[in-house]
This record gives sequence, structure tokens and C-alpha cells, in this order.
Amino acid sequence: MNERISVVGLGKLGLCFGACLAEKGFKVVGVDIEKRIVDSVNNGIAPWFEPHLDEFLKRHGGKTFTATTNHGDAINMTDITFILVATPSNPDGSFSNRFIESALASLGFALKESKKDFHIFVISSTVMPESTENVFIPLLERYTGRKLNEGFSVCYDPDFVSLGNVIKGFLSPDLVIIGESSSEAGSEIEAIHRQMCENNPPIFRMSIINAELAKVALNAYITTKISFANSLANLCEKIPGADVDVITRAIGVDKRISPYYFQGGLAFGGTCFPRDTKAYITLAKKYGVQAEIIQAVDRVNTYQNEYLVKKVLGELNNTQDKTVGILGLSFVPNTPVITESPAIKLISELLKHDIRVIAYDSLAVDNTRAIFGSAVEYASSAEECIKNAGVVVLTLRDAKLKKLLEEYHYSNSITIIDCWRILDRKKLGNKVKYVAIGRFNEQGR
Ligand SMILES: NC(=O)c1ccc[n+]([C@@H]2O[C@H](COP(=O)([O-])OP(=O)(O)OC[C@H]3O[C@@H](n4cnc5c(N)ncnc54)[C@H](O)[C@@H]3O)[C@@H](O)[C@H]2O)c1
Repeated sequence: MNERISVVGLGKLGLCFGACLAEKGFKVVGVDIEKRIVDSVNNGIAPWFEPHLDEFLKRHGGKTFTATTNHGDAINMTDITFILVATPSNPDGSFSNRFIESALASLGFALKESKKDFHIFVISSTVMPESTENVFIPLLERYTGRKLNEGFSVCYDPDFVSLGNVIKGFLSPDLVIIGESSSEAGSEIEAIHRQMCENNPPIFRMSIINAELAKVALNAYITTKISFANSLANLCEKIPGADVDVITRAIGVDKRISPYYFQGGLAFGGTCFPRDTKAYITLAKKYGVQAEIIQAVDRVNTYQNEYLVKKVLGELNNTQDKTVGILGLSFVPNTPVITESPAIKLISELLKHDIRVIAYDSLAVDNTRAIFGSAVEYASSAEECIKNAGVVVLTLRDAKLKKLLEEYHYSNSITIIDCWRILDRKKLGNKVKYVAIGRFNEQGR
């Protein structure tokens, strides 16, 4: 098997992917157009926080994992190139191919200029189905002057990882999907995953179009499941004695359902789920197929964000101190990423109501400050946030915040809205009005 691999696009996913390959014994050449990231890799320093990234880069950065801004190095120093550049959303909801096309043009040109017989290109970015067949392969044929499967092959190898858990996601995925232009190329990519993965995952080999569709379908299904759980959670809040956790824990054991992404609480956010949902709708429209379920998912998710705002405003009506403390700003724990984060959407709405907001997050304050500037106060600790607020909203399933809120000595009356029901109400004391999303609130309103 080929031990030298290149990764083009060292962003939130690509950098971790390169680091995982290096950790599992490959020699990796990373390519990015941002010099800051390239220098970081070569100096063995993580440019942002993602669990284990720092540790992996310290071990391999500048040694078996080197980086460059030159796409030619990917071609000349390796035989397989993974492309993991961003595919931002177009105004119609589809994914833009522009960064992939630009990367492939540089790589294709370098291959044409080289003396190499063969190269494998692996697209791992999320794309609109048919992009590989209709856009990427013709583009590569044009730039390389070669024919598919003669001078190069192409695979589509989507990633199913989530931010805050990227490295674990790459090393222990539930599944791997490989779309292949030839079985030889597919076997090479399978061998890489077999060496990289620690859990011997099922690997599904298929045509490129099926792999592209599988990626979009998987995320659309997950967001449907999340939205279902959110609807159930909202229902439980209205019915005396009801608790969404009791129900989802039980019915999630049914193999037809499964317990994952089935908690009920906040809207889904992040860089993938909201836009993948929209892309599915756009895709269905393109082929004249109705996508009412997924359209409803999109609406339910918007509603879930509005629901949280209503909940917080309702609690503020009953509270003397009108300051809202937000504990957790990122869209999931362990990441500084705040894209489409329910906490950020909540803050925007509270500010429109002229409500004073004090926010705390161990990783995401800088990104939040870049949006709201001085309109929001930033606490330097969770304790400071709690001390200065009349209503505290706990938005993340975070063990440290749970411990802190349960051990805090509350001297004034305060309302805590626990969006994922992670707190033990009994530990909070009688100064706290405890409100759980998804559970009938016994303290009554
Ligand atoms: N973020 C997620 O949770 C997630 C999960 C699954 C799939 N994906 C998909 O993975 C892809 C990458 O996502 P990301 O979050 O890592 O993106 P990102 O924006 O964090 O990183 C993209 C990187 O590509 C670099 N780049 C752009 N053009 C380039 C070029 N021509 N040559 C070399 N480098 C170039 C950028 O400088 C940047 O560092 C997207 O298609 C995304 O939809 C993301």
C-alpha cells in the first residue's frame, strides 16, 4: 500500500484527517492556501482547538506530517490526494464547487507537468450529487490531458464526523463509504481506512453517485430524527409528569430507532446539518421530487430556536433581575465553532429586546465577540456569569458546567433553564427555579 498521502484543505476536517493519517503511520503532505495553517502544521502547533489535535500535531507536525502552499508537492510527493476544501452554500441552498474546482485545477495542471503515470484523487468534501461525474472528472481530464482510469482515478469518500469529536470520528467511524471510478482505486482507499481506523468499521464500496447521495441522505435522516425528538420534547413540556428522556431512552432501544441524536432539546446547528438539510431540499427540487419531510425539518428547526427565545422571555417576566446569562456559546461542546449555534441565535433575539446578556464559554468567546462586540458582556468564568444573571441558560451538554452549576452556592434567587436536562435538580437548592426543556416543569408556570 502507498504510505505517502496528501490532503488538500487543512481546515476543521482536513487538518484532523492529516493528523490521523500521520498518527497511523502514513507520511502526509498537507496543502492549504493559508500560510498561517501551513506554518502551524510545520511547527507542530494546532491553529485551533479540537480534542487531540494539539497532541497529534506535536508528535507529527513538521516530521511525518508536513504542509505547503504548493499543490505540485501533493502530486510529486504522493500518489493519492484527498481533497477536503470547503463547499459553502450557494444562495439556492446547493453546495458550491468553486474551491474544489480551483484545487483540482492546480492539482490537474501539476499532474500534467509531472512525469508520473498515475494519481488517485479522492473528493471528501460534501458536494451536490452528480458533481464528481459532471464537473470534477471532466475538469481533471481537461487539466491533465488524460482519460479517467488511464492517467488518474477518482473516488468520493465522504466524512461522517462532527466537530468537537473529529479525531475520534475519523479513527472510529460507524461506517465508511467509498464511491469509486475503478475497483483498484477503491481498494487503495479502503486499505487506507483499514490502516487508519481503530474499530474495523463496515466499509461500503459503491458507485460515485451512490456515495454522493448517501452522504446527503445520511445527514437529512439525522436532522429528521433530531427534529422529531425536539417536537416530542416540546409536547412533553405541556403534559403533567412527562419527560422526554424517559421516553426516548426507552423507545431508542428499539433497533428501528436507535438512541443516538434522539434526546430532544435545542435546534441542530453547526457548519453541516442546517445547510445539508437545505441542500437536500434543493436537490429534490432539481429533480422535481417533493421533499416535504425535509422541508418540515427545516421549519421545525427554525421553530425550535424561536421556542427557546419564547421560553427565556417568559422566564424573564417572572424574574426580578432581567439579565440573561448564557452558559455555552458553541453549537456543541468542545469546539470554538458558533456557526448556526442556538445560543448565538438566542443572544441575537435577546439583544433585539434590549435585554442585558452576559455570556460564558471556555472556547467560543472570541468568535462570539467577533459578532456581537460590546453589545454582550463576556464573563471570564462560569461563576461570574451565574453571579450576574437572573436567568441562566445552560445550552451545552458539558460535564464541567454541570458540576459547577450543581456545586455553586446560590445566594440570590435565580432561574436556570437546562436545555438538555443534565443537572440534578436536587443539588441546586431552593434559591433556584429549575426549568428543563422537554420535561413538564413541576415548579409551575
Ligand atoms: N465541519 C464539519 O463538521 C464537516 C463534517 C462533514 C463534512 N464536512 C465537509 O467537509 C468539507 C470541509 O469542511 P471544513 O469544515 O473542514 O472546511 P474549512 O472551511 O474549515 O476548511 C477548508 C480549508 O480549505 C482551504 N482551501 C480552500 N481552497 C483551497 C485550495 N484551492 N487549495 C488548498 N486549500 C484550500 C481553506 O484555506 C481552509 O483551510 C466541506 O465540504 C464540509 O461540508 C464538514
